[in-house]
Amino acid sequence: MNLVDMAVRREVLRLHAVTTSHRIVEIGAGSGTLAREILDRNADCRYLATDLSGRLLRLAATKIAPHHERTLLVRVDPEPRQPLASGIADLLISLYVVDMLEPSGIRALFDEAYRILPPSGTLCLVGMHPGQRPTWAERLWLWLYRIDPGWVGGSRPVQIEPYIDPERWENVRIRTVECWGLTSGIVTATRRR
Ligand SMILES: C[S@@+](CC[C@H](N)C(=O)[O-])C[C@H]1O[C@@H](n2cnc3c(N)ncnc32)[C@H](O)[C@@H]1O
Repeated sequence: MNLVDMAVRREVLRLHAVTTSHRIVEIGAGSGTLAREILDRNADCRYLATDLSGRLLRLAATKIAPHHERTLLVRVDPEPRQPLASGIADLLISLYVVDMLEPSGIRALFDEAYRILPPSGTLCLVGMHPGQRPTWAERLWLWLYRIDPGWVGGSRPVQIEPYIDPERWENVRIRTVECWGLTSGIVTATRRR
């Protein structure tokens, strides 16, 4: 998924909010690659990154070391509710977490995003998404997922559109990026007032 990740990260880094936000939260930051890229581009932001894995957060700490004074890394439990105050972020990002969650977890993630962002805050969620036409790569991925989700890192393509409540989110845009027959969906939206 590395080539996919690079193409997707490029799209995410193009977002206006990446360089203009003062408080950024990333859920499931993993080893901190995106965090480092955003911190390099936005000298004015404070960055709070969460993950379930202490090992990945230690890798992230090394990666973001030059910006450590404006970064907070928080290890969380796999609870739907994140230990973050309401309205704390101008921009909330999460890459490849939504596609690991059950439908109830996806709904909880959108609820949390709505709570953590203030009105007019920006949401950017990325996950595997069904392609416009099913490719062999996607069929193979789903086949492996059905046998054992662990073989494909616990992720599968998720049709994200039904989870986006139009009463809560506006300016919704879903872009897709396909690489090696696998598609990622990049959802951006603004929290309604
Ligand atoms: C597939 S990895 C993606 C990591 C990173 N976002 C990236 O794109 O390279 C998913 C990450 O989400 C974390 N994760 C899963 N559920 C989470 C939750 N509820 N809260 C925070 N992190 C979570 C996992 O520990 C893992 O590091």
